[in-house]
Amino acid sequence: MAPQRAVTGERPWTSARPCVRISTARCRTRRTASIHLSDLIACGPLAGITGRHSGVNPDGDLQKDIDVAADEIMRRALRIAAVAAILSEESELPEVLDAGAPLCVAIDPLDGSANLENNISIGTIFSIRPRGNDVLSTFFEPGTAQCAAGFVVYGPQTILVLALNASVDIFILDPVAREFLLITQGVKIAPNTPEFAINASNHRHWHGPVRAYIDECLAGSNAGGADFNMRWIGSLVAESLRILVRGGVFLYPADARPGYREGRLRLLYEAHPMALVMEWAGGAATTGRRRILELAAKTPHQRVPLIMGSARGVRDVGIIHEGIEPMFDHSDAPLFARRGLFR
Ligand code: F6P
Ligand code: MN
Repeated sequence: MAPQRAVTGERPWTSARPCVRISTARCRTRRTASIHLSDLIACGPLAGITGRHSGVNPDGDLQKDIDVAADEIMRRALRIAAVAAILSEESELPEVLDAGAPLCVAIDPLDGSANLENNISIGTIFSIRPRGNDVLSTFFEPGTAQCAAGFVVYGPQTILVLALNASVDIFILDPVAREFLLITQGVKIAPNTPEFAINASNHRHWHGPVRAYIDECLAGSNAGGADFNMRWIGSLVAESLRILVRGGVFLYPADARPGYREGRLRLLYEAHPMALVMEWAGGAATTGRRRILELAAKTPHQRVPLIMGSARGVRDVGIIHEGIEPMFDHSDAPLFARRGLFR
C-alpha cells in the first residue's frame, strides 16, 4: 500500500500521521535555509556538489565545496533575521550584521561534512544568545548565556532538534509541504544506557581517566555486569541525535596527539549548543572536570574536550577524573586502574 501511494505522489503517512504541524513564523528564515541545504545535500552531484576541497577553515579542517555553500546559505538567511552578529566555523572572525538586533548566532553550517560521500548523516549546529551591550563580547560569555540552541540532521530524514524554553523538541521535515513537523515534545535522555561512543583508534593517546572509563566498559565491570555497546559515526549531529533517542555517552576527550590537547570539538558552535540540548533533555555535558555550559571561550574557534549524554554515564566519567591532575603521558595508567569506579 505504501509504495503504491508513493508512486502516485501522495504522502503515505498522511492518514495516520502522529505529528503536530507547528507554524513558527519567526523561525521561517532559519527553516527555509536548512530546507534549502537539505535539498542540496540530497541531490549531491546532481546539484553540482563534487565534494572537492576548496580550502582550509580557520581551525585547519579541509573545507569542501559543500561547506562553503552551507556557510553562504546560512549567512544569507541570518542577514535578514534579527541577528546582530554571526560566528561561523568557516570564518576566522565574527561578522557584525546589525549591531542593534537582539540575537547573536554561533554556527557550524555543516558538521561532519567528511561523511558526505559515504551518504552518512551530517548536519547544521547553532547556538543563539541574546546580544550583550558589546556585540562581539556576547560570544565570550559562558554557555549558560544561550537562550536557544539545536541542530539539523540531514540523514534518511531531515530532523530538527530545538532546545528552547528549557525543553528539547524534535521535528521532521515534510519534504512535500516543506515544513518541519513536531514529532517529539520535551524529549528526555535515558539516564543510564550502557552504550558509549568514542573514536577508539586514539586509545593510546588518551589520558588516564578516559582510558580507565572505557576499559571498565570493555571489561564489562560497569552497570552490574551489563555488556556495553559501542558506536562511532564520526558525525557529531548523528551521535547527538542517537543519544537523545536512546541514551549513552559520547566522548571526544583531550588526547596527546599534537593539536588535540583540548580535544577536537569547538566550544562555541559545537560543545555549547550540544551541552544546552543535553541538559535541557535531562542529560549532562562536561569536559570530564567542568560543566561545559559554565565555560566561556577566549578565542572564536577554541576547542574543548566534550563528554555528554546520559546523566549517569557522564557522572561516572567525572568521578574517575576527580582529584586527578590533567596528564597527557601514560604514566598514570596504573593509578587509574586502581581508582576504577567498579572495583
Ligand atoms: O566537526 C568535527 C567532527 O566532524 C564531528 O562531527 C565528529 O564528531 C568528529 O569531527 C569526528 O572526529 P574524528 O574524525 O577525529 O573521529
Ligand atoms: Mn563540526
